[in-house]
Amino acid sequence: MTKGKKLFINNCSSCHGKKAQKTLNWKRTLKDGTYPPPPLNGTAHAWHHPKSQLERIILNGGQLYDGTMPAFKNVLNKEEISYIISYFQNFWNNEIYNTWFNNAGLTR
Ligand code: HEC
Repeated sequence: MTKGKKLFINNCSSCHGKKAQKTLNWKRTLKDGTYPPPPLNGTAHAWHHPKSQLERIILNGGQLYDGTMPAFKNVLNKEEISYIISYFQNFWNNEIYNTWFNNAGLTR
């Protein structure tokens, strides 16, 4: 198992699924009005965020936008977060990856 996969399985898969595929109905709010974990596999919009923003979300969790994702800043370092981002980027197709790569300067 690669480092990124191991870190993802241990820290993220309980919510986002082992292959970053959860949740299918990510646009529908839950009963309490919060959003479920979106897929990170290229079918939702993780790929709209430049790497710096993906890092920020993982470090700080959902607190910045009233979300429920926990913060990982006391759990993972930047290097580990990079491995994790590479792991879920493996599921993006070439078109999505290239679009992300070419727009990585966007702020959202
Ligand atoms: C307890 C459940 C939970 C865990 C564990 C979790 N997340 Fe999340 N994640 C969420 C939820 C819910 C959201 C949606 C925003 C919110 O409510 O905070 C989210 C959103 C995200 C987003 C933004 C996606 C987008 O389309 O904008 C990224 C990136 C992300 N998570 C990555 C991770 C990574 C990487 C890990 C492991 C280090 C992780 N998450 C662990 C629940 C979780």
